[in-house]
Amino acid sequence: MFPPEMRTDPYPIYRQLRENAPIFDTGQDLWLVTSYEHAYALLRDPRSSKNLRNMDDYENRMELAGRTAPMRALLEQLMSFNDAPDHTRIRGRFQRAFSPRLVQRLRDHATEIAEDLLGRAPADGEIDLVADFAWQFPLVLVAEMLGVPTSDRERFHAWSRDLAPAFELVASPEVGETALRAAGEFVAYFEELLAERERAPQNDLVSGLLNAEGDADRLSEKEMVVNLILILAAGHETVMNLIGNGTLALLRHPDQLELLRSRPELLDDAVEELMRYDCPIQLTTRIATEEIEMAGQTIPKGARMAISLAAANRDPDRFPDPDRLDLTRGDRNHLALGGGVHYCLGTALARIEAAVAFRTLLDRYERIELVTETVEYRDTVLLRGVKALPLRVSAAQA
Ligand code: HEM
Repeated sequence: MFPPEMRTDPYPIYRQLRENAPIFDTGQDLWLVTSYEHAYALLRDPRSSKNLRNMDDYENRMELAGRTAPMRALLEQLMSFNDAPDHTRIRGRFQRAFSPRLVQRLRDHATEIAEDLLGRAPADGEIDLVADFAWQFPLVLVAEMLGVPTSDRERFHAWSRDLAPAFELVASPEVGETALRAAGEFVAYFEELLAERERAPQNDLVSGLLNAEGDADRLSEKEMVVNLILILAAGHETVMNLIGNGTLALLRHPDQLELLRSRPELLDDAVEELMRYDCPIQLTTRIATEEIEMAGQTIPKGARMAISLAAANRDPDRFPDPDRLDLTRGDRNHLALGGGVHYCLGTALARIEAAVAFRTLLDRYERIELVTETVEYRDTVLLRGVKALPLRVSAAQA
């Protein structure tokens, strides 16, 4: 569906699309939204639904997109593919289990975990930031949050890697099968964990979820399990990609890297700007529940809209000189974390993790250089991230 440059450098394509038509009819019942104004509005529009069943010719289109019946059954239970009242109920339950106390505990541990992981990577010479650090760091934290043993991280990594391509706009039958197998193993794992926590509650998110039984926002076991998978996958893939994309952006803008070294107080703004500049979730979809007239277009009822968060984040009408990485921009209203009722549930944790990751990396190494300018991206278009990031490093003197 998309040309290969959508993986390597999609931004010139987004610019062209936006200049041509901020809402673009692909002719495949898919409307691509690339301007900030319209992306922002549609994320909050009550006529924009996440429920796939509002799609015209749902079953047929889902088959065409490679979503088999078991995969559809799984997707339909995720908070991210539901509208109110189910979305409100499921999200509310998770939000309460995701308590500020839990986030504070993770904040306290994040630096320790990052220092430990980077401490195992060579002090001088070559490292691969993805293999040596970026995939493990968010996974260890999200595992700790959920209360699953971090020693299972290899399994989670493999499962979420197999599952992620199933969220693309179109998935091949092989991708669908692999994803379903991973989902089945994930489900069995979390079912067992739920049973264990029921017997012996701990101070973690899973026990917090079970604790609320009897409340108005009661969840079925299936809903808990599939949404735990969502949290694990969403909390892992995105932060991993932000660490990779963000480090690459800093290395390609040495003045900004130096600025961050000399003014550490810019760290939180730097995280926001790195998310805006090259965001880990490039686009999200909605279904029009009514005909929508916008930007001179008429989006028919039942059509799919692909809202490009990445393109919106580079819209010059919203961000002056949008292709420039500027850590002093001080603008948190980018769309990298979405908008409206589906706004990222893990925002607080994502910001903590990213800040700790960049700070620990810069503290550990006084010199960081790219080994090669040619970077290979993962095969997904919806999720954007480097496969590997080989770096030449020298440790800072203690
Ligand atoms: C840099 C890191 C992250 C980025 C860029 C990111 C981005 C996003 C975006 C764009 C959405 C909204 C999608 C939509 O509107 O359709 C979203 C939703 C979500 N995110 Fe994140 N995310 C990040 C980290 C996390 C973390 C750490 C967690 C959990 C531990 C998490 C859990 C979720 C969940 C559960 C949703 C679904 C919310 C809903 O549908 O109501 N995310 N994220």
